[in-house]
Amino acid sequence: MIHISVLLILVVHAIAQDETQFTYNGFQGATNKLHVDGIATILPNGLLQLTNYSSYNTSHAFYPRPVIFKPNHISFSTTFIFAIYPIAPNQSSHGIVFVISPTTHFQQALPSAYLGLFNTSSNRLPSNHIIAVELDTIQNPEFKDIDSNHVGIDVNSLTSSAAATAAYYSDKLRVNKTLQLNSGKPMQIWIDYDEVEMLLNVTLAPFSSPKPSKCLLSKQLNLSTILLRNMYVGFSSATGPIPNYHYILGWSWNQSGKAQDLDPSKLPSLPQIKHHKKSLSQLIIVLLIVISLLLLSMIAAAIWFVWKKKYEELLEPWEKEYAPYRYSFKELYLATKGFKNSELLGVGGFGKVYKGIIPSTSRQVAVKRVSQDSKQGIKEFVAEISSMGRLRHRNLVQLLGYCRRKGELLLVYDYMPNGSLDKLLFDKVEGSILCWSIRFKIIKGVASALLYLHEEWEQVVLHRDVKASNVLLDAEMNARLGDFGLAKLYDHSIDPRTTHVVGTIGYIAPELSRTRKPTTSTDVFSYGMFLLEVGCGRRPIGKQNEDNDAEALFLSDWVYDCWKMGDILKASDPRMEGDYVEDEMELILKLGLLCLYPIAEGRPTMRQVVQILNGSATLPELPSEYNPETIGFLGEDLGTLHSLPSSFLSSSGTSSVAVMSSTNSVLRYGR
Ligand SMILES: *[C@@H]1O[C@H](CO)[C@@H](O)[C@H](O)[C@H]1NC(C)=O
Ligand SMILES: *[C@@H]1O[C@H](CO)[C@@H](O)[C@H](O)[C@H]1NC(C)=O
Ligand SMILES: *[C@@H]1O[C@H](CO)[C@@H](O)[C@H](O)[C@H]1NC(C)=O
Ligand SMILES: *[C@@H]1O[C@H](CO)[C@@H](O)[C@H](O)[C@H]1NC(C)=O
Ligand SMILES: *[C@@H]1O[C@H](CO)[C@@H](O)[C@H](O)[C@H]1NC(C)=O
Ligand SMILES: *[C@@H]1O[C@H](CO)[C@@H](O)[C@H](O)[C@H]1NC(C)=O
Ligand SMILES: *[C@@H]1O[C@H](CO)[C@@H](O)[C@H](O)[C@H]1NC(C)=O
Ligand SMILES: *[C@@H]1O[C@H](CO)[C@@H](O)[C@H](O)[C@H]1NC(C)=O
Repeated sequence: MIHISVLLILVVHAIAQDETQFTYNGFQGATNKLHVDGIATILPNGLLQLTNYSSYNTSHAFYPRPVIFKPNHISFSTTFIFAIYPIAPNQSSHGIVFVISPTTHFQQALPSAYLGLFNTSSNRLPSNHIIAVELDTIQNPEFKDIDSNHVGIDVNSLTSSAAATAAYYSDKLRVNKTLQLNSGKPMQIWIDYDEVEMLLNVTLAPFSSPKPSKCLLSKQLNLSTILLRNMYVGFSSATGPIPNYHYILGWSWNQSGKAQDLDPSKLPSLPQIKHHKKSLSQLIIVLLIVISLLLLSMIAAAIWFVWKKKYEELLEPWEKEYAPYRYSFKELYLATKGFKNSELLGVGGFGKVYKGIIPSTSRQVAVKRVSQDSKQGIKEFVAEISSMGRLRHRNLVQLLGYCRRKGELLLVYDYMPNGSLDKLLFDKVEGSILCWSIRFKIIKGVASALLYLHEEWEQVVLHRDVKASNVLLDAEMNARLGDFGLAKLYDHSIDPRTTHVVGTIGYIAPELSRTRKPTTSTDVFSYGMFLLEVGCGRRPIGKQNEDNDAEALFLSDWVYDCWKMGDILKASDPRMEGDYVEDEMELILKLGLLCLYPIAEGRPTMRQVVQILNGSATLPELPSEYNPETIGFLGEDLGTLHSLPSSFLSSSGTSSVAVMSSTNSVLRYGR
């Protein structure tokens, strides 16, 4: 009852006044107190959103009841706060109009330039009875717009009867200041009409500034000819191809006096769209920075990882004592220009050999990369390397040190500028035939090196792979025996159940395939084959002649046959064309056969070999029971060889057989 009576009193009061006045400090809960259509909506915080990012839409928001303009009572005063958010700076569309209209039905009105107020046929019609104040952010020549940022007074038409660029008079500074309507900043506008003066004044100012003393527009209008008795007041807005956010924060209307000032503290806050966009772009920038930083650090990590991986090596605590023999992988990598193919010296039985220059010392070295997958035995091997590092003989290739990586072992040797002997012996390079004196010097050098290994060092060292390709030549064409001990490494890296002989086919003493026990005698056997190689200029197993179908020639058999026929010199290297010392050649070939004696006990020792070569001992007669059938490995031991991969048999006969066996150490006997 009380409520009804209060309402009644209010209604009576309103009717009595017959004039409408209202104030919206925000539009909270005003849905039923405001007529909205189109895309207009009241946001939860009370902000009236006329348009959003929908293109080609209109929107209207009207005070739901008509305001009454009685004759001689048509003065009014209104003010509202608005904000126009462009989608992007200067990418704005159309604007907001404050409308006094006889109707709230604008279904036929067009969006875009018509601001949701008129259509092509209704524009300019006096029957519209529409008075509007446009806040226009597009210059439309059709309606003679003065610019793209203006305020205009429109009567029944979008062609403004008065217009001015958005600006305000600063009472403080006494200057006019322009305002950018679509800046996204809230602004206040005052529209005042005095029926006596018949002046419609429009005043603009930034939000929170007091009303300027001077108005922006002042237009003489006899509104009594336009205004009907019942009129609706409100807003119309439209979007074109480029949408815009149009907001009204607060609004007050008074027909009996000045419109009440709006209370800034009660007004809804604007969505932080611009800020959002800013913070969004900031966020994006931050994100981009973070992502790029992440990417950079990932790249850096990857580079570091690759770099680390590239130079990664194995170094275990026990290796400390061998530090003097250790090379870092990076050092060797740099020395060999990253193991470039151009630095490749050769591919041996155990791996590739690269030429290099150690950066810190500028020492020329040869780096041998030996693939070595097993950890087993590596400790002993490294121990032996360090022992071998202590081997010093003018006819040995000096081992300088090593480096270990996963699956691979790198051995660093003195660089031998003249390469390996087999190249000079067998590669048919014109005019590069080794002369006899050098051959003889090489033969003596290798013998001296083997004697050193067998008898003169603190331990017995078996070479186990004596052959021309393991004899290198230094700058003075001195023979340097290389690759000793490598076979040992392969002993350890194999499955102990399989037993094969280490060495090279053609150089393997017959008893070795039976006993699998390398001895000094098996080295002597290999040396014997080496002597024939040097003397005859042929490989242990080769062709009779250049003809591809030629029968295989077993060098030892052939030399033996020549000897039996009483013409051992027939076996001498034909490329020398007899240019040698016959006695020495005969000595070498016979000594070769002697060393190749099938029974180990029948072979000379290295000391005897050296003495024979020096002439301090005479070559014993070759034993009469010397049976060619048993010479070489293809004799009675053929069976053993069948257990080797067939590829070894079909190969040229000089490839190293990097297969395994014998559990004996290189440094087998202590002394
Ligand atoms: C917005 O405009 C489109 C196209 O003109 C129309 O289909 C849609 O109904 C409009 N939306 C509103 C809410 O008026
Ligand atoms: C804009 O507002 C209308 C009405 O609230 C809605 O239907 C439309 O999906 C909105 N468009 C966008 C782009 O937010
Ligand atoms: C917007 O355009 C007007 C003229 O069209 C120009 O004077 C003003 O500098 C532009 N503003 C921006 C932020 O680009
Ligand atoms: C224009 O709008 C008026 C009402 O405002 C309507 O009667 C008329 O049919 C419309 N014309 C067109 C072409 O849409
Ligand atoms: C400010 O603008 C008004 C109307 O646009 C004009 O009459 C007035 O002279 C201007 N004042 C100054 C100080 O520029
Ligand atoms: C409109 O502005 C003029 C001066 O430009 C002033 O004399 C007049 O009183 C104003 N009228 C209203 C209703 O504010
Ligand atoms: C204003 O218009 C009304 C209606 O047409 C007319 O009666 C009145 O005389 C006009 N007032 C002035 C001052 O022209
Ligand atoms: C309207 O004006 C009258 C007279 O100045 C004032 O008393 C009243 O508060 C105003 N109402 C509004 C809502 O502005």
